[in-house]
Amino acid sequence: MGALDYARQHRARFVDELKALLRIPSISTLPDHRNDILQAADWLLAHLRELGMTAELIPLNGGHPMVYAQWMQAPNRPTVLFYGHYDVQPVDPLAEWTSPPFEPTQRGEDLFARGARDDKGQIFAILKALEAYLKDAGRLPLNVKVLIEGEEEIGSPGISRWMDRHARKLACNMAWVSDGPMYARDQPSILTGLRGLLYTEVEVRGPAHDLHSGIYGGAVPNPVNAVATIIAGLKDRRGRVTVPRFYASVRDPSPEEKASWERLPFREEEFMRETGSTAAPGEEGFSILERRWSRPTLDAHGIAGGWTGEGSKTVIPAKVVAKISMRLVPDQRAKTVLRAFEKKVKQLAPPGIEVEVRELAGGDPVLVMPTVAPIQAAARVARAVWGADPVYVREGGSIPPVTKFDRLLKVPTVLFGFGLPDDNTHGPNEKFHLPNFHRGIETVIQWVEQVAG
Ligand code: BES
Ligand code: MN
Ligand code: MN
Repeated sequence: MGALDYARQHRARFVDELKALLRIPSISTLPDHRNDILQAADWLLAHLRELGMTAELIPLNGGHPMVYAQWMQAPNRPTVLFYGHYDVQPVDPLAEWTSPPFEPTQRGEDLFARGARDDKGQIFAILKALEAYLKDAGRLPLNVKVLIEGEEEIGSPGISRWMDRHARKLACNMAWVSDGPMYARDQPSILTGLRGLLYTEVEVRGPAHDLHSGIYGGAVPNPVNAVATIIAGLKDRRGRVTVPRFYASVRDPSPEEKASWERLPFREEEFMRETGSTAAPGEEGFSILERRWSRPTLDAHGIAGGWTGEGSKTVIPAKVVAKISMRLVPDQRAKTVLRAFEKKVKQLAPPGIEVEVRELAGGDPVLVMPTVAPIQAAARVARAVWGADPVYVREGGSIPPVTKFDRLLKVPTVLFGFGLPDDNTHGPNEKFHLPNFHRGIETVIQWVEQVAG
């Protein structure tokens, strides 16, 4: 009957199966969820085998296993690597969820659950496209490798190290990743760039032990004040990061790329409504899209230490920890920036304050040329399935393995996401728009046929 018809006939079952995967709370950053991580990996392993693929778990010592599967029975045809992640972000604030995060709930055409859109729903669209071929025709028109990791949301430390030694196992002609949003509803979007990330924990120590702020205040170093001083000193009044040589290797987007961004429908008021903010501050002289896509930036995420409980406690704490990250753009390198950042933070520390910088996650930025054949094929499919030409945009988020595909495998990655801008990724009430799930399946089915040659 054909893979497309197969997919259309089994839509309801596909959604039921996705719900089963979404019920597993595979939160990678919380040690308490280790068993759920393993359960999600096992679930996918069994599922891929059921589709007729050879599948295995690849352990990453100390880390969460990767699920790897392949179907390599199309000699003289290209090989595609599909990548995604089965781990999800924590769910707090839990009280903000309309339905429990791990009880997938359909409201209208949306499926609500943690991981629905990031990234379980999107990897599942890929798996269902493969199923449509394998269960309908009994074969695929090309060779396929599937890699689904469980550490993406914590910076992909294991896969990055593993790839340095085992890149050959992933040898392929092109990669496909669905792990992002579309620029707008009904607007297919192909990403030409992702920012990198350097995520640090900065420990700030003052007195040897906590002190009464009345007895000692005014005459001792205060780590909470010091953290504020440090963070404030990391950006200047024009919104520029003050780390020396931070911008030295930043490459400007081409005039054509910039011009194409200016043609995108974009309304500042709508952006502020989307974020619930009353201003859109950032680096002077750059548009909001440039600030998010092609400019690096620095953000603090949290400060822990001292008294943060209810009421008041007059204490000068001995120690405070701040989480600070930088989003990086081509051709910045996380390693280089880390050294300069550490030095700058130490310079900003007031007298009597000791600072230690620890790297929690790092990944370099990546660009993909939209002119390569697999992306042109995706553009044709976008027209057929979504009824519109794709826009070529970048995203500010990070998917470190994509950089590895570029540098180690030396293949282009098609970054075609099926999410919507209002899917609440990482937040409460994450959702996936089910029509996009089904169109996503059809997109992959048709793209596979196009690039099979
Ligand atoms: N899917 C996102 C990355 C993303 C976000 C791509 C928006 C395109 C648009 C991914 O799951 C993610 O959240 N990545 C983290 C990576 C980090 C923990 C190393 C990120 O960007 O914060
Ligand atoms: Mn993701
Ligand atoms: Mn994510």
